[in-house]
Amino acid sequence: ATGALVDSFGRVATDLRVSLTDRCNLRCTYCMPAEGLPTLPKDSVMTREEIVRLVGIATRDLGVRQVRFTGGEPLLRRDLVEIVADCAALPVRPELSLTTNAVGLDARAARLRDAGLDRVNVSLDTLDPDTFATLARRPFLERTLAGIAAAADVFDVVKINAVLVRGVNLDHAADLLSWCLERGFELRFIEQMPLDADHAWDRAAMVTAAEVRGLLGERFTLEPDDEPRDGAPAERFVVRSPGGRAGGRRGERLGRVGIIASVTEPFCGDCRRTRLTAEGGVRDCLFAHTETDLLGPLRAGAGDHVLADLWRGAMWGKAAGHGMSDTGFDEGFEQPERTMSAIGG
Ligand code: GTP
Ligand code: 5AD
Ligand code: SF4
Repeated sequence: ATGALVDSFGRVATDLRVSLTDRCNLRCTYCMPAEGLPTLPKDSVMTREEIVRLVGIATRDLGVRQVRFTGGEPLLRRDLVEIVADCAALPVRPELSLTTNAVGLDARAARLRDAGLDRVNVSLDTLDPDTFATLARRPFLERTLAGIAAAADVFDVVKINAVLVRGVNLDHAADLLSWCLERGFELRFIEQMPLDADHAWDRAAMVTAAEVRGLLGERFTLEPDDEPRDGAPAERFVVRSPGGRAGGRRGERLGRVGIIASVTEPFCGDCRRTRLTAEGGVRDCLFAHTETDLLGPLRAGAGDHVLADLWRGAMWGKAAGHGMSDTGFDEGFEQPERTMSAIGG
């Protein structure tokens, strides 16, 4: 076979997410258990050279146009700047982005930009230090904010990701949006998915996209954005001031907000994503139950065309959707073995 990463439903994956490590310095409740998870042995994690080789195959032979580095926490890779630089120097250069918790980003933001990183998305669920420490189980709000400030200095686009948890940070949603609008960040609220280590996800307790729209509507006017969504997870809205006590002129454009409704309004039908785990396995979906190992064959000497074929084969079998319905799990849905920290968002 030659050509793009097509699946049996005709979707084409042009967007690659690479997990650079399974380790993380936070322990967000919706992702990791308090005690952490056993980490992968170092020699089963892709090296810089292996990552760049596979990204090179993806962009040259498989039609991948966007590459996002995720984790765990990608900043825990000491060679992150070098990985970015090598990927930016590939013959077919992809757009390069990073999803991070921003702890320690202040020290590296400028070097990452200089290496060729195009943009960053930062996870930030609250601006309250105590709530942050409860959700992330680490008291690192200030370090995160320092990382975000540094990112804002050097990148044109900074997006913020927030997962809302009922009884914890739900009441902070509108304040977080104000804060992001004032700074020109695009905030996205993400519905929590059953990818936590504790298997404590509860459909009934989940904060839904509809609920978030209602909540924000009490303080802002939201209008559907007319830019094409292009397979992006987030549905975007233009945010306007309602005037009056909220401040600002009535109708004044304040910025944009996104809502990622993975559970209640799934976008699987337009999915353009393929994933590499830190161990060099292809996952065709966040919710996949199988992975296709590329690192083993690569280390055994497989050529680029063999690896490309394996990758195409892995994507062909991608399921139509994640199998969660509006009311809960469809019959047969099973939460994947791996947690979000090990898949890489
Ligand atoms: P851009 O829109 O290009 O900035 O990237 P993104 O939103 O895809 O990237 P980011 O890493 O910031 O992901 C934000 C959230 O989108 C993740 O935390 C997931 O909750 C969700 N997401 C990303 N990819 C998928 C996917 O394939 N399926 C589902 N259901 N959700 C996804
Ligand atoms: N559901 C939805 N989003 C999650 N993230 C982590 N775990 C979950 C989950 N169970 C988000 C983080 C981060 C991104 C990489 O994934 O908030 O922004
Ligand atoms: Fe939090 Fe992301 Fe780390 Fe999970 S991987 S604990 S969501 S920072």
